[in-house]
Amino acid sequence: MKNKSSLKILVVSILTLSMFLGCVGEDETGLKPYQDPNLPVEGRVKDLLKRMTLDEKIGQMWQASPDLVRTYNNFDEEKARKLVIGYGVGSFLSIVGEDTQKLQKIAVEETRLGIPILFGIDAIHGHALYNGSTIFPMPLALSSSWNPGLIEKTASATAKEVASTGVKWTFSPILDVARDPRWGRIIEGFGEDPYLVSQLGAAKVRGYQGSDLSSQDSILACGKHLAAYSETTGGRDYSPADISERTLMEMFLPPFKEAVNVGVGSIMTSFNEINGVPSTANTDLVRNILKDEWEFDGLVVSDYASVRMLYDTHYVAEDLEDAARCAVEAGVDMEMVSEAYMEHLERLVIDGVVPEKLIDDATGRILKTKFLLGLFENPYGSLDPSVINSRQHRNLALEAAEQSIVLLKNEGILPLKDARSIAVIGPLADDPSNQLGGWTGDQPAENVVTVLDGIKNNAPQRTKVRYSKGCDVLGEFDNIKKATRIARRSDVAIVVVGELENMSSEPNCRVSLNLPGNQGELVRAIHHTGTPVVVVLINGRPLTINWIAENIPAVVEAWFPGQEGGNAVAELLFGKINPSGKLTMTFPKSVGQIPLHYNHYPQKNWDHGKYGKRYVDIEDEPLFPFGYGLSYTKFDYGNLKIIPSKIDKKGEIRISLDVKNVGKIRGDETVQLYLNDVVSSVTTPSKELKGFKKITLNSGEKKNVKFTLTPNELSLVDRSMEWVVEPGIFEVMIGSSSEDLRLKGSFEIIE
Ligand code: NOJ
Repeated sequence: MKNKSSLKILVVSILTLSMFLGCVGEDETGLKPYQDPNLPVEGRVKDLLKRMTLDEKIGQMWQASPDLVRTYNNFDEEKARKLVIGYGVGSFLSIVGEDTQKLQKIAVEETRLGIPILFGIDAIHGHALYNGSTIFPMPLALSSSWNPGLIEKTASATAKEVASTGVKWTFSPILDVARDPRWGRIIEGFGEDPYLVSQLGAAKVRGYQGSDLSSQDSILACGKHLAAYSETTGGRDYSPADISERTLMEMFLPPFKEAVNVGVGSIMTSFNEINGVPSTANTDLVRNILKDEWEFDGLVVSDYASVRMLYDTHYVAEDLEDAARCAVEAGVDMEMVSEAYMEHLERLVIDGVVPEKLIDDATGRILKTKFLLGLFENPYGSLDPSVINSRQHRNLALEAAEQSIVLLKNEGILPLKDARSIAVIGPLADDPSNQLGGWTGDQPAENVVTVLDGIKNNAPQRTKVRYSKGCDVLGEFDNIKKATRIARRSDVAIVVVGELENMSSEPNCRVSLNLPGNQGELVRAIHHTGTPVVVVLINGRPLTINWIAENIPAVVEAWFPGQEGGNAVAELLFGKINPSGKLTMTFPKSVGQIPLHYNHYPQKNWDHGKYGKRYVDIEDEPLFPFGYGLSYTKFDYGNLKIIPSKIDKKGEIRISLDVKNVGKIRGDETVQLYLNDVVSSVTTPSKELKGFKKITLNSGEKKNVKFTLTPNELSLVDRSMEWVVEPGIFEVMIGSSSEDLRLKGSFEIIE
């Protein structure tokens, strides 16, 4: 046993250390250290944790459902008190506006420690669940812009709108690399390529979070869904991902790693399992890789009730208590909606099953996030309605839509020149609610510019615009005859077809990628009138529009283009803008070809970018490849320089080339750089995107484009599952799409 004087020294030094870390006592103003904004966040977290009971800590680890504070859809003060004071709930899902203020007041003024609540909402393309907000194109659409700067701007506009309704957290961006167009959630993400998803995902994180999380205009981003949620079975949402460790590392983890690198504040675990282990119970993935290896110091939230799913869906937990144990051990800090933590964590800790240090780690991360967001100093935010759907944000929504649209085919009919009469036809030509895409609440129809509106707004004076719906997307309505009549009387027919909003997003998947309902028949009938046709697609996934691609002279992919979509489509039709979008997902010709993505591994009859012939009933080629999209002008590529031609594994390669606009009008080109690690210890895709730059060129203008390749872009996962750069030749391919490669060269990595 230690003698008295050494005990005294120990006590004094602990006290000194505690004071230093700001853990005990109050300052002269009566502020407790955790309340003092001038102390470092780490010290404030430590101080607050020390003051909390186990119960209070566990309360922080729960994100409650909005239903729990509502009766008949109205805010219920009594229920709110019970939850906030009685349970000390740390977060609420999907509560906005006035109700956030009421809940926050209870938390700040009536709870023992006054810990503010963190409100979270899905705001994936604008604050779209909030009535009247600005609705940007859906993320898959926006990814077609290949413009990280633009995406960052839309995210920061979204952050402003979200924060102005009392909410400081959004469950976005989706970082799932999506390779199966049947899966309904591909519209929520940035397409099939891990490099592109990483770059665009990082841009979105920067946009939401800004340079200072505590600023009025910043919100916390959440990278989701860790991991491989998009690698479905049969395209079905929530299905298992049966993938190798290699595929996980090469394909699905890089966007999350990049998000962590740029400081994403939270990560959500996915509903699915990977090789038998549900992500919400996956210690290796969450605790070992995300938190330890990548040193992620933000908070991990489960997906909606995915803790409960461990026992009632995946059956890897005996009961709800066991589910709580699995999730907290795996490193899930906050449970969304289900109540396993709330009901069982305390007992698990008291019984010694779950060490309290895991609770401290989880609660500490949540508190740290709240401190960083400035919630202790400014718990209410500012309810400022003037930012919602402001003129500036509407202009940005238009710019975003303009850059998201992809021109798939043009046999010279676009831009429209002398059309004095235009027939606007199709079930989606004038349907505001089906133009916005999923994760959208009720929105005022007058905020949405449909394609019909856009054509009326942008058509030259005295152009006669006639409209007929023609048929439903799905359903009985059939007025194809009337549609053909107005087509016959017009110089051109714009036929707007596609998918309903609820045919994609969670959990809406499809077995067919054909145009639903009678829309194919409608397009054919209009084509048979002899009037030239432009098909405009409004939809949430690549479609097998083989007949249209072959027979219709112009095809425009508008995706779900958001509230300004109609103006953007019309500007493109009339040549007021020059199309610049490029596909971020391969369009297959048949569902039977899936999976079909450009970055496949070399294989017999399908090597080095050349498609072979293996199906007896269809070609191997896609309908439209990754990176593809037409412009009204043409670009020449030349003068490729790769310096140096040899370098060691740690070196950097500088690549430059010239691009010239050789057409008659100004246009944007997305220059794409693909690499092939020619011979390596393991197989690597025949081409992988490793750089891209979007540039604007006036007619006749030439610009020099530069890329730098670092070991990051050159590394592969070797046989011992390590990321390494291997010596050997790398082939460089640069062009306008993954299939239209204009310049080739190489360099060598030496030991
Ligand atoms: C379930 C979805 O998978 C997730 O993306 C979303 O953020 C949560 N629900 C909350 O709405």
